[in-house]
Amino acid sequence: MKRSRIVSTGAYVPETIMSNSDLEKMVDTSDEWITERTGIKERRIASKEQATSDLAYEASKIAIERAGITPEDIDLIIVATISGDMPFPSTACFLQEKLGAVNAAGFDVNATCSGFLYALHISNGMIKSGLHKRILVVGAETLSKITDWEDRTTCVIFGDGAGAVILEPSENDRGVISTHINSDGRLWELINLPGGGSRNPASDETIKNRLHYIKMKGNETFKVAVRTLEDLAVRTLEVNNLNPSQLSLLIPHQANMRIIQATADRLKLPMEKVLVNLQLYGNTSAASIPIALHEAVISDKIKEGDYILLEAFGGGLTWASALIKW
Ligand code: UT7
Repeated sequence: MKRSRIVSTGAYVPETIMSNSDLEKMVDTSDEWITERTGIKERRIASKEQATSDLAYEASKIAIERAGITPEDIDLIIVATISGDMPFPSTACFLQEKLGAVNAAGFDVNATCSGFLYALHISNGMIKSGLHKRILVVGAETLSKITDWEDRTTCVIFGDGAGAVILEPSENDRGVISTHINSDGRLWELINLPGGGSRNPASDETIKNRLHYIKMKGNETFKVAVRTLEDLAVRTLEVNNLNPSQLSLLIPHQANMRIIQATADRLKLPMEKVLVNLQLYGNTSAASIPIALHEAVISDKIKEGDYILLEAFGGGLTWASALIKW
């Protein structure tokens, strides 16, 4: 069975920068606290007019151009997001319209911060089975629109952005070696957005109680994330008979520098082999891995034949990984 391969990448972040000192003026926090506890220095914020599909469009245009294809060549669009343009239709359909990708089908994946790797898992299966030949896989978020800007425990963390890849059948052994997805719904309460769905339909009450914003039990999430991601990274390499020393690059979900450091330590990876850009963008949920991947590609941090490990953790709870031979 042939592998699927990421043939190109693209990324986009909004122009507006919100620094830690900007946040100091909004909530009771400090640059020192945010930097020490998370590693984040600034994040990008979408404009009033920008919805998630607008960010996805900018990232996708770059990926399509770099692949040397046209939007009509794409036969499937999967967008991983928890901050779509509307509850329905899917953000993938809005993106399809913007691109003019008239020969594609489109749908969204909701797996929070693990969403891009869930979408990659699905796409990999679709390509390997022969059901689809060229898939646009996107992670895109405008978390600023669902963030409670009065809640210092969450608003300092999140940011907006989008990343995209084009996935095609591989001609050789380059490509996605394995993908792994997991979830534990028993821990849904650690991160959620309670309002606006069928459990708590939008009402004056849900607005008054600020239920339309992300809620997170940060410290509990942190502890599960560290443990789970360490195990996941080790297991992903083990099932593929690879030593951590054979890895050229680890691209983790950009949630917290301390979580990233813990995974790197467990694999005994020097930080030069770990892509970290959360200081610039914060936690962009499903967008963080494809944005970081694009950065790795355009700054020549990956070369043909390199083994790279992607891993993520988020609400659901969900967690996922992918091992790739570039
Ligand atoms: O994206 C995937 C899923 N999400 C994650 O992986 C996020 C995981 N969690 C985290 O990254 C960290 O838990 C946070 C960065 C969210 C918080 O860091 P922490 O070290 O776990 O802090 P904490 O929640 O235990 O809070 C420590 C103290 C508390 O004060 P007291 O009770 O010790 O007096 C908080 O009230 O820090 C206080 N605090 C703040 N202080 C200044 C909480 N948020 C802030 C803030 N500025 N923004």
